[in-house]
Amino acid sequence: MYRTNVEQAVEKYRRHAPGYDASAARTMPLRRRVVGMLGLAPGETVLDVACGTGLSLPLLREAVGAEGRVVGVEVSPDMISLARERVAAAGWGNVSLFEASMEEAQLELQFDAVLFNYTHDVLQSPPALERIFASTRPGARIAVAGIKHPPPWLFPLRLYRLVKARPYVTTFRGLDRPWRLLEAYVADLRVEPVLFGTNYLARGTARKRPQ
Ligand SMILES: C[S@@+](CC[C@H](N)C(=O)[O-])C[C@H]1O[C@@H](n2cnc3c(N)ncnc32)[C@H](O)[C@@H]1O
Repeated sequence: MYRTNVEQAVEKYRRHAPGYDASAARTMPLRRRVVGMLGLAPGETVLDVACGTGLSLPLLREAVGAEGRVVGVEVSPDMISLARERVAAAGWGNVSLFEASMEEAQLELQFDAVLFNYTHDVLQSPPALERIFASTRPGARIAVAGIKHPPPWLFPLRLYRLVKARPYVTTFRGLDRPWRLLEAYVADLRVEPVLFGTNYLARGTARKRPQ
């Protein structure tokens, strides 16, 4: 069964970490949008899947407030160390970070909401999804932003998609419907292509899991 190539992810993000925040600045409007799609309320518990340098953490922390909880999991030591600095600088006592692959993470909470912001590799990994949804309560809100192939008739954009994505992913599998494995876990997944179909937003609610 496919799972993330962790060594490759760690190696790629060792190189990206120092410049990551600057390169992600232009995607902040989309990040705000996807976090807004979670409809977070004060006091809730939210998981930031593959949280990277923690660019979503301020938005999530603001939405759940001091009474809520934010958990970030990230496999790259270089990326998560920047997230840790962000949390320490802000002095948030209710934001917890775990250095682990999503396939191995020990998640001891039940989440009210789960954010997948540009987490293509995780979305292609059945064991990672299994672990995430074992810790997600039925009815929890799920929001996703990510990369996808544009439609076949936009052939040059498909090449652009591959070239732009290559440094940031360890697999191109599933690029036509990157959310397809989520459908088993999310009841009413609604997908909206954005940026000429080279990216997408998706949202839905977690299904009740078989006992
Ligand atoms: C494109 S970055 C996105 C980071 C963050 N979600 C954001 O919104 O800025 C993808 C991140 O996924 C992490 N990653 C890849 N596979 C992972 C896995 N199986 N478990 C945890 N993190 C993973 C990478 O190390 C990288 O930090």
